[in-house]
Amino acid sequence: MKVAVGSDHAGLSLKAEVIGHLQALGHEVHDVGTHGSESVDYPDFGRQVASMVADGGAERGVLVCGTGQGMAMAANKIPNVRAAVVSDTFSARMAMLHNDARVLCLGERVVGAGLALQLVDAWLGETFEGGRHARRVGKIEGAAPTG
Ligand code: RB5
Repeated sequence: MKVAVGSDHAGLSLKAEVIGHLQALGHEVHDVGTHGSESVDYPDFGRQVASMVADGGAERGVLVCGTGQGMAMAANKIPNVRAAVVSDTFSARMAMLHNDARVLCLGERVVGAGLALQLVDAWLGETFEGGRHARRVGKIEGAAPTG
């Protein structure tokens, strides 16, 4: 799978862990940055990763900042992209199964690396169920209601 990955300065260490993990699993990783510890603005990276997912340049995206929250807010501004902040494996799985959240957002100041990699695995291991869930996510994107 091709996975786009990005972080701000507060997510730099966990991003490196995630990249190493994804590569060890055989995934192709595109790292949009940041690449240094200087303070940067998370929306610049959140929007890049989400845009790659939206235009098909990547199948999934992982974003890391201090809490994951700002990254999710930025990524969710890109049409047809749903980004979920998770810190438990059940939510990570359901974000994919029911919400088709192709962008996962993690908080380096919230979850340890061990849990974060389990969250990535739980989310990557699922595919969208579709059906009634497709109707519901369509409504998020402004599709006309169909029953
Ligand atoms: C940076 O200090 C921090 O605000 C950012 O990483 C993120 O947590 C925002 O949501």
